[in-house]
This record gives sequence, C-alpha cells and structure tokens, in this order.
Amino acid sequence: MQLGLEGKVAIVTGGSKGIGQATALGFLAEGASVVVCARGKEALEETVQLAGQHGEGRIVGIQADLTDGQAIKAVVQKCHDTFGRVDILVNNAGSARPGDFLTLPDDAWTDDWTLKFFGYVRMAREVLPIMKQQGTGVVINIIGTGALKPMGSYMIGGAANAALNHFTKALADEGAKHGVRVVGINPGPILTERLEKFLSTFSAGNSREEALKKMTPLGRVGESAEVADLILFMASPRAAFIHGANITIDGGANPGLMG
Ligand SMILES: NC(=O)c1ccc[n+]([C@@H]2O[C@H](COP(=O)([O-])OP(=O)(O)OC[C@H]3O[C@@H](n4cnc5c(N)ncnc54)[C@H](OP(=O)(O)O)[C@@H]3O)[C@@H](O)[C@H]2O)c1
Repeated sequence: MQLGLEGKVAIVTGGSKGIGQATALGFLAEGASVVVCARGKEALEETVQLAGQHGEGRIVGIQADLTDGQAIKAVVQKCHDTFGRVDILVNNAGSARPGDFLTLPDDAWTDDWTLKFFGYVRMAREVLPIMKQQGTGVVINIIGTGALKPMGSYMIGGAANAALNHFTKALADEGAKHGVRVVGINPGPILTERLEKFLSTFSAGNSREEALKKMTPLGRVGESAEVADLILFMASPRAAFIHGANITIDGGANPGLMG
C-alpha cells in the first residue's frame, strides 16, 4: 500500500526513543521530513544517526523539555522555519508514574499532567493555526490503555489518558472546521525503556519474562514498530475518513466494547 507520505513534514515529540523513534524513522523511510524533540541530547543524536541516508536534509533533532511552554513554541517554530510547514503532529512525549494514591503528592500529579496532558494541549494549540492556514493537517495523540482500565496503582496516568481521549474528540470537532484531522491511539504494553522502568509495578511478583507474557492474551507485549506502523497509516491520506477516533493497539489486553 502506498501511504502517500512523501514530502510531508511531521513533528514527533519524544522521537528519540521507543514508539516516537520508530515513528520518526518510519516517516523518513516513507519520504517525509521529521522534527524530533526530547530532553536528552545523546538519544537525539543516535536517532539522527540511525536515520542514515533517509535522514539527509530531512531530520532535525531539537533538545526540548515539553513541560515548558516556551520550549514547545520553539520546536514548532523550528519546524516551520526549516521545512516551511507542519503537516503532521505526533504528540507522544509523555509518561506518568504509577504509585500509591495516598502517598503520591500534588507535585506528582501536576508534573506528570504538565507533560502528558498539558504538553499535548499546548503542542496542538501551537500547530493548529499553521495547519489552519495550510487548510490541512493531522494531529495524532499517543495516549494509552490506562484510559480504558482504571487502576488504583495508576491513577495519574489513567486519568490523564482518559482526559486525552476526550481532548482528541473535542479537538477533532474543532479541527474539522479548519481541515485538520485528529486521531488518538491507545497502546497497551509496548516493549520500550518506559515499560521496563515500570514493569515491577505490574508484574505481580512474576519474573520479567513471565510478566511480559501475561500482559496480553497474545502472550507477548508489542513492538514500537507495530505502533509506528499504525501511526503512519493514521497520519496518511489513506486514513482520510478516520477522524475523532481513539484506536486501541494492545494485543487484546482490553477487550471492552469501547476499546
Ligand atoms: N510503552 C508502553 O507500554 C506504553 C503504553 C501506553 C502508552 N504509552 C505512551 O506512549 C508514549 C511513548 O512511550 P514510550 O514507551 O515509547 O516511551 P520511552 O521509550 O520512554 O520514550 C519517551 C520519549 O519521550 C521523551 N521525553 C520524556 N520526557 C520528556 C519531556 N519532559 N520533554 C520532552 N521529551 C520527553 C524521551 O526522551 P528524554 O527522556 O531524553 O526526554 C523519549 O524520547 C508515551 O506517551 C507513553 O505514555 C506507552
């Protein structure tokens, strides 16, 4: 299938590792140009190197902490200055900590929401006027199945994800007026640095291998590249009629009718 992404310009937040990196490399392989941003310089440089030939003149890595509104503006500005447009925004940089409800302090809630919820809102608010002027654009929010399965041990992330599922649909309503398509993606367990970090919270005393097997009915966790393939399709003109949908990719781990 030809995705028709050639010549498009995408911003992938958190594009230096995991799902974001696989997505950025995928866009490059399809002929798009990409701006990736993250805090760590080393992983950004590695990503640019990994891009190899595909990346020549078509990838820019920017160090930015997306809890900072000014940094968000700078990323979008850099993309526009370098490539002259923004066709696709993949809101992906986000992480919320699990933990005990009674002991997690206010700062844990506000810090994690500042990145995972408000970072997505600010990014979208920054690119929307550009997309509106272009008369076209796509925003993809990478959210998480924590939205679908409320857990006492993952309230900060679960609640942020539920809010982002709502935000995706509300932004779709707004975006439609300006030719901007909006889609949410809810990944289940995907083997990344982030999953490894929080594995012990969800492993219920099992070994690493057993815990990973038990996470989905398919007996395995997902790969970043599998999520990236879905993101690329959703960002492409082939998905032109998919708008305001929140799509689950979780190996069947959340079998509810709304998932
Ligand atoms: N992996 C899963 O199982 C899973 C499941 C559900 C949802 N998700 C969601 O999918 C998205 C990607 O997850 P992942 O597993 O691929 O994560 P990951 O491997 O930990 O990568 C996270 C990326 O975000 C960047 N980042 C983190 N904090 C940032 C900040 N304050 N400002 C800018 N960039 C920042 C990281 O780079 P630096 O650290 O250098 O900044 C990195 O590039 C997240 O929104 C996550 O919540 C993942």
